[in-house]
Amino acid sequence: MDRTLRRLHPEPAADVRIADAYGDPDRSPPPGRPWVMITMVASVDGATTMNGASGPLGNASDTAVLSATRAAADLVVVGAGTVRTERYGPPKTPGQRVGVVTSGGSLDMSGPLFSSGAGFLIMPESGPHLDVPTLRVGDASVDAAAMLSRVHELVGRPVGVVQVEGGPTLNGWLVDAGCVDEFNLTLAPRIAGGAGPRAVVGAGTSADLDLAHLLVDDGGFVFSRWTTRR
Ligand SMILES: NC(=O)c1ccc[n+]([C@@H]2O[C@H](COP(=O)([O-])OP(=O)(O)OC[C@H]3O[C@@H](n4cnc5c(N)ncnc54)[C@H](OP(=O)(O)O)[C@@H]3O)[C@@H](O)[C@H]2O)c1
Repeated sequence: MDRTLRRLHPEPAADVRIADAYGDPDRSPPPGRPWVMITMVASVDGATTMNGASGPLGNASDTAVLSATRAAADLVVVGAGTVRTERYGPPKTPGQRVGVVTSGGSLDMSGPLFSSGAGFLIMPESGPHLDVPTLRVGDASVDAAAMLSRVHELVGRPVGVVQVEGGPTLNGWLVDAGCVDEFNLTLAPRIAGGAGPRAVVGAGTSADLDLAHLLVDDGGFVFSRWTTRR
């Protein structure tokens, strides 16, 4: 059965299907690049990890949100730090690709993400040459705008929506480049403590957002969807 949530904003409603809440919104790409949405989970005190991983913060509704946002995307992009930390496999959607942003390419190429053929690298020209499909953009580091305008080259079809799944460093880099259109943040009803990073680290710029929706589940998890104010 489809998982549902209670909507608090915009108009209150019971039993909103997660697939509809995250699949229906218009995501018309801005000129020259795809629409970029970041999807993250954080504790009430702002931590995105507990003991170094995001898993302990999520629940089944959060997993369903991640699936729904992936389903709405033509491509998943993730930072190498997250792939090294989290167990990353291929997406459920057949044919969906996952671009991993890295400078050094220090990743397990024998893991399911790459052995399945779903994973590819997004690397600057200075990075090592590895036996994995690689999009080269930028000299010493990957250039965000150039990456977004060229990702379709490795995907092999038009890319209108990109799902970014962190981590915080990659998010900060995209915020600085002005390339974030949507932020989906799950708030877990937990004080995590520790030193887990915020959802965005290292950004030297800020962005104002509009609240697109606010949903809750029976466990007190809050699911917010924000769009960048232009
Ligand atoms: N709560 C959540 O929803 C959530 C989601 C995702 C991740 N996380 C957590 O976040 C942590 C990882 O985050 P992180 O910030 O350390 O790492 P990250 O953002 O996943 O990845 C950082 C790495 O990406 C590469 N990179 C980033 N910008 C680049 C650029 N412009 N050019 C070339 N390469 C670039 C570099 O890879 P190389 O070092 O390979 O060169 C860099 O070390 C993990 O603990 C994970 O569990 C939480």
